[in-house]
Amino acid sequence: MKILVFENKEEASFYVAESLKEVIQRKLNSTEITVLGLATGSTPLETYKILNRFYDNGDISFKNVVTFNLDEYYPISPNSVNSYRHFMNTKLFFKTDIPLENTYIPSGDIEPNEIKEHCVKYDDLIAEHGGIEIQLLGIGLNGHIGFNEPKSQKNSLTRLVALSNTTRIAASDAFGGIDQVPEKAISMGIKSILRANKIILMAWGTHKAEIIKKLVDFEVTDEIPATFLKEHSDVTVILDKEAASALPQNAYTFVEQTINQ
Ligand code: PGA
Repeated sequence: MKILVFENKEEASFYVAESLKEVIQRKLNSTEITVLGLATGSTPLETYKILNRFYDNGDISFKNVVTFNLDEYYPISPNSVNSYRHFMNTKLFFKTDIPLENTYIPSGDIEPNEIKEHCVKYDDLIAEHGGIEIQLLGIGLNGHIGFNEPKSQKNSLTRLVALSNTTRIAASDAFGGIDQVPEKAISMGIKSILRANKIILMAWGTHKAEIIKKLVDFEVTDEIPATFLKEHSDVTVILDKEAASALPQNAYTFVEQTINQ
């Protein structure tokens, strides 16, 4: 795992958005598609804002981009303001020229008896598109990636999962109380994530410093699902100074990033 630390999340997110832009631009004039694995939550918000700006400036088009999101609450209507479908539509998709049919997110409103098939199909669809080129990840306070909570297994694929208390508490403000937070979600598995060519995990703020320290210090363990990333050959961890504050300086490279408007 390569660890890059930036002055703040704006500079860090600019670096991530630039990396995505580069991959997308490389294929712009061909018929090839770029397959991105996307995340929700507060962490990627700045990256999406910058991608919107690139699009507004005419630097980038999403016409040939296909996206697969990590997860969705279950059950939830795609029209709910708390659904990840709503999040992605409003934060990124509706603000760009990405064809909506190219944007895949697990469905939160299917019948219980359809879930198994839906999940198998999700991993199959990723494979049919040639796999994910770059996968964006945040990290939960308990070390989850996607909704792969502690005890998730390395060979897990897309499936229905039970959300941990930590995760439901973190979401309770948005839902207006923990009772309103769904108890389950559909999430890509650890194996689905590790199949991506390249993985970028981002974390900002002092509240993430402790889990980032554990991610770096611990051997691979299902207690901290993010440690499975150590078994992938192309993972970059992107941090602001606060999220890196518990790490020794020799654990990372500090990057001075200029933001070009
Ligand atoms: P956050 O969530 O981006 O809102 O901090 C990250 C996660 O739980 O994966």
